Amino acid sequence: MFKAPRGTSDTLPDEQPYWRYIQNKALEVCRLYGYSCISTPAFEDAGLFARGVGEGTDIVNKEMYVFKDRSDNELALRPEGTASVCRSYIEHGMDNLPQPVKLFYFADIFRYERPQAGRYRQHHQFGCEAIGDASPMLDAEVIHMALGFFTSLGLVNFSLQLNSIGCRKCRPGHLQKLKDYYAPLAPQLCGDCQVRLDKNPLRLLDCKKPGCQAAADEAPRSSDYLCDECGQHFTSLQNYLSALGVKYALNHRLVRGLDYYTRTVFEIQPAEGGSQSALGGGGRYDDLIATIGGRPTPAIGFATGMERIVLNLVSQSVNVPAAEKPAVFIACMGRDACVQSVKLAAALREAGTAVISSSGERSLKAQLRHANAAGAKYTAIIGEDEVKAGVVMLRNMQTSEQQQMPPDELLKLAGSVQ
Ligand code: HAM
Repeated sequence: MFKAPRGTSDTLPDEQPYWRYIQNKALEVCRLYGYSCISTPAFEDAGLFARGVGEGTDIVNKEMYVFKDRSDNELALRPEGTASVCRSYIEHGMDNLPQPVKLFYFADIFRYERPQAGRYRQHHQFGCEAIGDASPMLDAEVIHMALGFFTSLGLVNFSLQLNSIGCRKCRPGHLQKLKDYYAPLAPQLCGDCQVRLDKNPLRLLDCKKPGCQAAADEAPRSSDYLCDECGQHFTSLQNYLSALGVKYALNHRLVRGLDYYTRTVFEIQPAEGGSQSALGGGGRYDDLIATIGGRPTPAIGFATGMERIVLNLVSQSVNVPAAEKPAVFIACMGRDACVQSVKLAAALREAGTAVISSSGERSLKAQLRHANAAGAKYTAIIGEDEVKAGVVMLRNMQTSEQQQMPPDELLKLAGSVQ
């Protein structure tokens, strides 16, 4: 028996209304904020992520699905969406368009993680990238958009965590302070953090192991080591957020798991679950485009995991619109009736009415059971008597009332039974 690979799942028809609901809200928020849709390949040159996301990150080091194709090209299933969008921005000369270029995507994302609730090896993101503008006004707009999206979904009880991790100029000072602070604590740190101390000290701050968390609480804060420009950017962003009435919590341990971030980083966290179950996250990545071969171009974006949103919609009992049910089910008995059935189904569909037709090989009772299970509003019954009389029997599935009528009359009614 084959099964879906560990950490992946099928999204069955019953769950689809949640996905459709989220996608529709996402499209609406993108319309309001002026974002255009972009799709990029599910796999890219592995080097794009190694350089863009960072070789020192867990995502690249431990979680990326890397493979060689039959021509020996080293490729990777995308472990995130931002680097691909930036590659496309460069490749298609989007720097010639009015800036910022605002792009959104729905993308399946692949990470070899230890599967658990809300953490999968293939998940789906809705993401937004605003490329080509360095102003903190844009940071505030992107954050406002992300929060507006979650609110429009009907979700409550989430918080915005905010931090600034500085830039190439001021970060080395902070990293040195971190190293100095952590050096005597090294023996108490977990194995991963001992490696991070050398390779990626910023990541020491968001280790989830209890022993490391205590040390991280007291660690030097990036916001205390910002250069003047980064400091002004951060203050200005907070002023914009306050002007927008956005509440936020400054979180000096928020550093994110991708190396491309500069200055602003943020996460939207549900009240329960904390940083391991973030609903979404993002930040500025002013150096990424230059790192992967473009001209220096500031940018900011965020992404959210669709599966996590579904989990939160379910746990918060948010009602989503149900899937549309067919308006008409056609039941038929006998060969001539089946011919009438296919003609009627075609004419009804042409008139825009959703139809399910039965192949007529089961009893009328079984066909009516099927109509009920499908949630049809009406069943048009065609048997030998109906064929002879040139009519159909229309049954209202809720009231069980039946009424004979010529097919043309049913077609005229089609508009009102959709
Ligand atoms: P990320 O925080 O790695 O950021 O992922 C964004 C969101 O995807 C997370 O907040 C979470 O909701 C969801 N997510 C991540 N990993 C998993 C998983 N294994 N299973 C289920 N859901 C998951 C990024 O990927 C950045 N590219 C975001 C960004 C866009 N930054 C700037 N622009």
